Amino acid sequence: MDVRDTKLAIIGAGAVGTAIAYSSLIRGVARTIALLDIDAAKVTAEVLDMSHGLEFVPRADITGSDDVSVCADADVVVFTAGAKQKPGQSRLELAEATIGLTRAILPGVLEVAPNAIYLMVTNPVDIVTYAAQQISGLSPSRVFGSGTVLDSSRLRFLIAHHCGVAVQSVHSYIAGEHGDTEIPLWSSATIGGVPLTSWTPLPGRPALDAVARERIHHEVVHAAYTIIEGKGATNYAIGLASTRIVEAILTNEHRVLPVSTRADGIEGLDGVCLSLPTVVDRGGAQTRLDVPLSDSERAGLVASATTLRGMQARFGL
Ligand code: LAC
Repeated sequence: MDVRDTKLAIIGAGAVGTAIAYSSLIRGVARTIALLDIDAAKVTAEVLDMSHGLEFVPRADITGSDDVSVCADADVVVFTAGAKQKPGQSRLELAEATIGLTRAILPGVLEVAPNAIYLMVTNPVDIVTYAAQQISGLSPSRVFGSGTVLDSSRLRFLIAHHCGVAVQSVHSYIAGEHGDTEIPLWSSATIGGVPLTSWTPLPGRPALDAVARERIHHEVVHAAYTIIEGKGATNYAIGLASTRIVEAILTNEHRVLPVSTRADGIEGLDGVCLSLPTVVDRGGAQTRLDVPLSDSERAGLVASATTLRGMQARFGL
């Protein structure tokens, strides 16, 4: 599909939605970007502010409204509307508010954008994704979540910094819940094709031993809490991560990304959405890879699924 005739609609013009719009403009991922928000003055001002920079980015049009018709015929809809995580608050504690919001907003968007791929970003994203699949009735490949794409980017950043290599040379994934129970897949992580389980430190660099790996895992899980304590929200990295997913869809890239999809078919993971490496292309999140898992990684995923299933049960999902 030629990017020149694609439309990206973003539900929610808050810190995350506008970060996605802004990074999408810079990366030129869609010809038309539409922002929907209940606050007409805010969304109008955000669109005006970004419009004044269109000279400096690849050709695009940006528009916004408090009327759902602004999303008409979108190819991709990114859902960011929801309550903000407060300092110390877990993502799962947002569930009641955001599931209600999803139920209220999604049907109207589906009416005007029936052929779109739906990317859920609102937290708790795995549960919101599961709810959105139920509400929409669409094929699960067309309704998926940003999942642990951001967490995996955090993991890669920390590994790269520890080992003294470029972040692009690190291939590793966080899997499971986008939240406190997420787990690093150390057994399949590599730098330049070298398994991290047998990594030899570069000169002057520390070993990536169990203590270092535990520290890095802890920093990934607590990253959002740390940032929210300092600035009230996270937005830049989730904006870039979500834009990366949108780009994989609209350019039919067949990019492997740890997005949140139905995990049915894997023992202990049925009935929830969680993140595992998945091929993302113009059809959405179509093929989940059968990534090798250690016994502890498999147990970690089951624990993630159990947490999510328990939270879903509280809301009749
Ligand atoms: C974070 C939010 C997007 O992890 O959940 O920064």
